Formats: sequence, C-alpha cells, structure tokens
Amino acid sequence: MKMTIKKAIISILLLCLAFITVAKATNVSHDGRAFTIDGQRRILISGSIHYPRSTAEMWPDLIRKSKEGGLNVIETYVFWNAHEPIRGQYDFSGNLDLVRFIKDIKKEGLYALLRIGPYVCAEWNYGGFPVWLHNIPNIEFRTMNKPYLDEMKRFTTLIVDMMKKEKLFASQGGPIISAQIENEYGNIMGQYGEAGKEYVNWCAQLASSYQIGVPWIMCQQSDAPQPMINTCNGYYCDKFTPNNKNSPKAWTENWTGWYKNWGGQDPHRTAEDVAYAVAKFYQSGGTLQNYYMYHGGTNFGRSAGGPYITTSYDYDAPLDEYGNLNQPKWGHLNQLHRILLASETALTYGNQTTTDFGNMVTGTSYEHMQHSVCFLGNGNESSDATVNFRNKTYTVPAWSVTILRNCSTEIYNTAKVNTQTTVMIKKEEPQELKWQWRNEPPQKKFKVATLTVSELLDQKVVTNDTSDYLWYFTSVNLNNKSDPLWGKDDVSIRVNTSSHLIHVFVNGLHVGAQFTENGHYKFQHESKIKLRPGKNEISLLSGTVGLPNYGAFFDNVKVGILGPVVLAANDTTGKEQIVDISKNQWTYKVGLQGQLDKLFSLPEAIKPWLLFGLPRDKPMVWYKTWFKTPSGTDPVVVDLKGLGKGEAWVNGNSLGRYWSSYISGKDGCSAPCDYRGPYKPNKCLINCGNPTQRWYHVPRSFLNGQGLNSLVLFEDKGGNPNGVRIGTVKPEKICANTYENHKLDLICNVGQVISEIKFASFGQPNGSCGSFQHGSCSSPQALSAINKLCTGKQECSFQVSEEVLGATGCGKDKHNRLALEAICK
Ligand code: GAL
Repeated sequence: MKMTIKKAIISILLLCLAFITVAKATNVSHDGRAFTIDGQRRILISGSIHYPRSTAEMWPDLIRKSKEGGLNVIETYVFWNAHEPIRGQYDFSGNLDLVRFIKDIKKEGLYALLRIGPYVCAEWNYGGFPVWLHNIPNIEFRTMNKPYLDEMKRFTTLIVDMMKKEKLFASQGGPIISAQIENEYGNIMGQYGEAGKEYVNWCAQLASSYQIGVPWIMCQQSDAPQPMINTCNGYYCDKFTPNNKNSPKAWTENWTGWYKNWGGQDPHRTAEDVAYAVAKFYQSGGTLQNYYMYHGGTNFGRSAGGPYITTSYDYDAPLDEYGNLNQPKWGHLNQLHRILLASETALTYGNQTTTDFGNMVTGTSYEHMQHSVCFLGNGNESSDATVNFRNKTYTVPAWSVTILRNCSTEIYNTAKVNTQTTVMIKKEEPQELKWQWRNEPPQKKFKVATLTVSELLDQKVVTNDTSDYLWYFTSVNLNNKSDPLWGKDDVSIRVNTSSHLIHVFVNGLHVGAQFTENGHYKFQHESKIKLRPGKNEISLLSGTVGLPNYGAFFDNVKVGILGPVVLAANDTTGKEQIVDISKNQWTYKVGLQGQLDKLFSLPEAIKPWLLFGLPRDKPMVWYKTWFKTPSGTDPVVVDLKGLGKGEAWVNGNSLGRYWSSYISGKDGCSAPCDYRGPYKPNKCLINCGNPTQRWYHVPRSFLNGQGLNSLVLFEDKGGNPNGVRIGTVKPEKICANTYENHKLDLICNVGQVISEIKFASFGQPNGSCGSFQHGSCSSPQALSAINKLCTGKQECSFQVSEEVLGATGCGKDKHNRLALEAICK
C-alpha cells in the first residue's frame, strides 16, 4: 500500500514535471542578424506543408520525413474558405484540423510558421477567400473597406484565439515561432492607390494588437511597418535586404519547382539549383529560409485555384505528392541542411568577410572564436572557377557553391549530387473493374430552390461556389410564321461566356459543348440547333475549373454565362437575323443532380445504377465501380487514363477534379536540362505530350482496410472508363553517381529489397541514370563488393572509396566516382 502511494506521488511529480517542460514558454525574438530563440541566434530551415493538401493520417509521416530531411520548422498557410464554407459555419475536422497539425509538428520537436493571410494565393481556389465574402454588399477585398476589414479581422481573430487557447504560440510553450499577416500585398499594392498603403498599416496594427509574443512577418512587402519583418519570395533571395536594420534576412518562399496547369508540362527544378540558391542565401547572411513547397500534395475536392490548376500539387517538392522522398532532391538538400545547422554559431555570430574574386566568384567567411565556415560561390553560368583561398586551390563548378568546413576542407558542393536518385513507378493491380452508370439528367426537374430573373448572372454570385456548375435555363417560343426563326433549319445559338466550359441542350438534346484552352475565362460558343414550333427549352450548363487566386482585384473577375446569348438564322435573302435572348427569363439551378443526390457517397442512392450499355465518349455521365484495397503500405493511385474530364470520389471522398484527356504541350522537354543559370518554370520540363495528369492520389485513409471501395466518376466531357486501373507508387530502381570519399546510403521502400545491382562502375564512369557506361578506368571488384553489401537488403550504406570498392587504377590526380543502378523489388 505504502509503495503504491509512493508510486502515485512519483507519477504525479513526473506528470507535473512533464507539464512544466511541455508548457515552458520559449522566448522568440530577433535582431538584424537572425531570429533568436531563448536568446540564441538560430539558423532556421523550414518547409511548407499545407495541411489540407494531405490527410491527417499522413501528417506524422510527412513531418517526420521533414525532420529527417534536416528541417527545424514547418510552415503552413491557413485556408479560410475551407474552414468557413458558409458564413459562421466552421469546419476544423479531418484534414482541416489545424490544431492537430500544429500539435503534430510539436510532437516531432519542430517549430511552426503560421501564415494566416487570410489571403493566401497558394494556387488555392479564390486565393483562400470564401466566395460568400464577395457576395457581401459593397465589399472590396484587400483594401480599406469596412465590410472587408471586419470580416478579415473576425477570421484572423478566430485563428489567433484558437492557437492561443491551445497554447500553441512559442510564448505559451507551443511550437509557433512566427506568424504572417496578408501575403505578397506589396506586389499589387500600387493598384489600390493610397488606400493600399493604409491597408498595410491596418494589417500591421491588427497583427500587433494580438500580442502573440512572437514576431510577425509580411512577405514581399518592402514598406512593411515595424515591427513587421518583411521577407522575400522567389527562386533566389541572396540579394534581398530587409527594410529595417533590426530585421533578419528571411526567405519565406523558395520555390522548389512550380505548380502545374491543365495542359501544362511537369515543372522540374534540379536539386543542384535549389541547393545553389539555398547555399547562396546563407552565404550572403540569410538565416531563415522556407521551401515552398517541401510537400506540395494534392488539391482534393474543388480546392484547386485558377485558372486551371491541376489536382496534383506535387510542385517537384522534396517530398512528392504521395509523401515519398523525391530523390536526389530530398537527400542532396538534407546534406546541405546538416552542414548549415552544424555551422549555426559561426553563421549567426561570426564575423562576415567577403572576398570578390571577379567573374561572379565570391568567398565568404564566418568566424566566431573556434567556429568557422566558409563559402566559395561561383555565379557564373558556364565557366568553372579555380580559386586560391587561404593558400589552397579549389575548383568551383559554374553555378555552384562550395562549403568549406573550418574554412579549409570542402565538405559540400551544390553541383555535386552524391545522394541516390530514385526512379518511381506506378504499379497496376491486377483487378478487373466492373462499371455501372447513370446519366446526369439535363431536364428541368428541380429538387432545390431555384431563382428566376430576366438577366444573366455571375456564376459565383449564384452558386456561392458550392459547385463548379450552374444551369441557366430559358425557353423560346416560336408561335407564328412572322417569327424570324420559324421553320429555319440552320439556327445557331451563340453564347458569350466567361466560364471554362459550356454544354448546350435544346429540348433535352445535347447539341454542343466547349472547353476553353489554357483556362481563359472568355470565349464564344456556337452550336447548330433545331427549334420546333411552340415552346423550346434551352438549357445551358456553365462550368468553372477553379476560381482565380492571384492579382489585384482578382476577386471581381466575373464568371459564368454573361452574354450576350443570341439565336441566329439567315433570312431568305441570306441576311442574318439575330434574336437576343440575354434578357429572357432565366431560371438558375446550382450544381448537378447527381451531386445533390450524393451519387458519390454511401449509402447507396435510391435510384439504381445501370449495369448494361455502358456509354463511352458521352458527356455528362456518372460511372461507378468497386475495387479492393491494394495490400501493403505503398501509396495508392487510380489511373484515369482514357477518361475525359470530371471529378472522382473514393468511398465518398473527393480525389479532386480530373482531366486526363487534356494533353500537355508537346514542346520544352527535349532540351537537355542544365542546372546552370537562373531557373524559370519552363526550364527542364518533363511529361510533354502526355495527359497532364493521369494518376490521382487515393490516400490510404480513404480506403476500407480489407473491404471493397467505391469509385465514382462524374464524366463531364466523355471518356471510356474501361482503361481505369488501381495502382501503387513505389521505387522501381535507384541510381547513384557519387564522388569518392562520400558515404552512400541506398534505400528502397519498406517491404522491398535491393534485388539486383544492374550496373556499378567505380572510376571515371560516363552517362546518367539509365544509361551509365564504364569509362577509361574502373575497379574490377566494385560490382561484387556492392552485391555483397547490398543485395537482398532494404537499405545499405558504405563509403565510396578504394578500400571498399577496390583500386580504380585511374591515377592519383583523378577524382573518382561510383555510378550505380540497382533494382528495388
Ligand atoms: C507566391 C504566393 C504563393 C504561391 C506561389 C506560387 O507568389 O505567395 O502563395 O502562389 O507564389 O506557387
């Protein structure tokens, strides 16, 4: 009994201790050099993970991989329209559970950077603003306007209070070390005149008034008022200088690749170039850098912004859309992070001395007592540099930075990638899918309240963005021969629309459809139609594929069928007669019938699905099938090749929009990808001339463990579901091209082993992953040595050296490399 009481007391004491440790406030501040945490200047390496772009079940793994990748901060925006889809009705459940996300960050011992906005851009629908906000009378976004300021303040306060209540700010013992108000307002501020300047001050005052106890930032805001820290966004920020001597040099968005549009190729930014930008930034005195994105993820549901942002938001980030390591980017940057973090004292307290060697070559040293680190940067795009630095000679390849430990030993060069490259495959499951189908009825059978007015309305005003679709119905009566359209069999309907797509039905018949190229919001559609005497029903279905998210006044871009809508036919003399029906009585119905009937979710809809006569290439059809959960833990995808455009759901969860029939541009992939020179999104493109996006992520948490899963598609354009396959994503092979005296780690996925070393050459090999060749000299023992070390194992690790891999016979002056290709199975 005595023991039990003693034990209980000890447990209580331990609990109290744990509580005190957990809740211990952290003092976050800054000076002109760096953010300080509990008085110490810090090197902060951050990565963006937007919580709604993955699932809550994925978060711990993503955060752990970020930590293993050498990050110490995770950044996210806050997505207002996801949290408050209807004014006053909030959703913080599932993957919108912001508190859980921040707590997951804390669990891994990382810090958080909370960019509240609430305007966020982010290729997110409407930049994160709810559409109901636009529908508040007299509102003007992002400027001095009471209705807007009141709403922005209300939502921002809600988020700040939520974080405070959960003690998530560092000042309360939580992980949040900084927060952001607005987003890149400086880029467009000029267009708002004086009111824009006032608005920036108002934002700063609002932020300061919250007293969150950690610094606030404003990105791309060169006039950010104190105490706001202005920060840089871009591919390179080494030349950036904050607007106040007391602000540290911080980079909130280092774009690790770029986003993708329907019809666009896949952007690719090399590991060498990202590393170069990062190293240059820290070389030039930067102390906080955030990768945008570290994990891009998926635009589930209708969250993709516009125009035409794809469902995949992979971004070529260090963690791919599914959460796999994007190698070599993840590994190459990881090595850099470790070195920067190990040099924290020198970088943040050291004396900075820069030597200009000419031809864009600079040397920078940071020295503080026994701590020192030096950088040799070569900004030249084509010529390598030979630099004499402190009595030693170094070769610095073009467009690269070398880091010298203790200012004397090269430990890293941004252009020398020593980590593994992983080639991923999508492996199809041998499952036969049986399809059922239903039509989306074009008739005017309303089950919901509708609206009738004699004008053409802005689609988002009517839908409040509850759907991508809005029906516009009207009718035309042909009563007698004096009607200019009477008896004509060459009538055209011409619709001027500001939407992304239109379907035209006349008397229930689908007579035409059009989808705009490149996401332009304006086009004219013309269809030939047949009218009959008496009443003719005209039904126009307008659709959008994401609302705009960037630019001054983007919120005011009108969408939908704005007219004029006319009917035209030639009279007997061949002269065109036009009947303008824009001012007819138009009845509106929001969304699709199948959407209202929730055809995509369980329980089964009342009306049966059809088993026979599966339509192909027919627009406006719902398809449904069932599939088994693939075994294992690899991420699951559905291959929607062969389909047109629409939306897909698994067990009622929206995977997002699909548009497999949209073929990406055919140009831009053939030029060799040279990491040298400034990156821009059309450099080093991949996936030309293929479906923009064929595979759609099905997070494992959407699936029933062992059971069957429903897959429902709404096909808007017309396609063939028979090609649909379920698959998993996994490494197929790994390659390395590693310099001598570096450690090489080779890793396949959990559940896989390195089944075969297809190629290994240690010496002076040529070629690249998939086409390696032996060079003039190589070690004859390398292959067998690696076989012994690695074959049959999930991962292996060894030093690339003559001791391990055998003598190369290449001579002392040669810098040897190991080229390797291995299979993961
Ligand atoms: C920035 C913006 C981000 C994102 C990025 C491009 O201008 O702040 O939210 O849109 O561009 O991916």
